[in-house]
Order: sequence, then structure tokens, then C-alpha cells
Amino acid sequence: MIRLAILASGNGTNAQRISEYFSGNAHISVDCIIYNKRNAFVAERARQLGVPAHYFSKADFYDNGSVLQFLQQREIDWVILAGFLWLVPQDILAAFPNRVINIHPALLPNYGGKGMYGHHVHEAVIANKEKKSGITIHIVDSHYDKGTTLFQAKCPVTPDDTPDTLADKIHQLEQRYFPEVIEKTVLQ
Ligand code: GAR
Repeated sequence: MIRLAILASGNGTNAQRISEYFSGNAHISVDCIIYNKRNAFVAERARQLGVPAHYFSKADFYDNGSVLQFLQQREIDWVILAGFLWLVPQDILAAFPNRVINIHPALLPNYGGKGMYGHHVHEAVIANKEKKSGITIHIVDSHYDKGTTLFQAKCPVTPDDTPDTLADKIHQLEQRYFPEVIEKTVLQ
């Protein structure tokens, strides 16, 4: 069995979709969801899904190695960032070389980097009057939004789009493609 840990920071729609997609899968399982904001709604989603969810603080990620230790104890094979908004610590990247996957709500290399997450991305795309946006699924390295691209999908941006309507389009792409891309990548 290939064991996934999902890291999330907020609402958790992607974490939920991925958990549901792999539920009952013979080869891949979502072992746990790790979150870094105490009141993140993803924790409630995890409870409803019956997936173990664990909160870790900034110190646990960056100073005392607790998150890495936890991932190793649970024999995790791949780390999936699903709306996780911190840079992944070096010790985790070193322990999971080319085995950390992120989803970004724009067409990288545009609209990536520090501070470019969630609504900030959609606001910038609309402010620049872009005609299209989309999602990028990529391998994570030590820079924000820079690793090898695995997959992109596009959607139109229309003049009447707001950050909210664009976010809806992006979420639809994420729900449709992210689990499949994870599946293909980890089975390769
Ligand atoms: C998603 O749109 C994801 O692409 C984005 O955060 C949202 C999380 O939604 N990630 C980033 O911006 C990473 N830089 P969710 O919590 O409902 O899955």
C-alpha cells in the first residue's frame, strides 16, 4: 500500500476530495491529514471522513522535527500539499525527495511565490485582466511554487469574473484533476 499524508491549512475541499477518491483503493491510501491552523475546517472534514487528523505548530514543523518524525513513524510514502500555505521544511524535503506534491491555483510560473495563495492569486489574475487562469500540480522543492510541473489545466477568465467566481472555476478543476494526477504520479 502506498501511504499518503495530506497537509492542509484551511477549508480542506481538496483534502476531502482526495480522501474520498482513494477510499477503498487497493494500492493507495490516505493515512492522515496534518493541519497547521488550529481552527482549520479541514479538521472537521477529516472527522466526518474518518481520516485521522493531527495539528502541528510552527515549532513542530520547523524547529523540533516532530512532523518529520510523525511522517516516518507512520511510514508515509508521499506528502500531498492540498491548500498548505507554508514552505515545506528542508528536513521533510530531504526525507521525501521528489515525493512532495503541491497544487497551485494558477498557471505557474505566473502568479506564484511567497504571498501568492488562495484569493490573492485570483485577485491578481483579475486585476491584470488575464484571459485565462488554471491550476498547476507540481513536485515541491525548496522554493515556493518552483518544482517540476506534473500537470496544468486552464479555464477562461471572463470580464464579469470576480475573485469568488474565478475561485469556483479553479476549485472545479482541482476537484476534477488533482486525485487522478496524484494516482498516476505515485503509481509510476
Ligand atoms: C486551493 O485552491 C489550492 O490550490 C490553494 O489553496 C486552496 C485551498 O482550498 N493553494 C495555494 O494557494 C497554495 N499556494 P481547500 O482548502 O478548499 O482545498
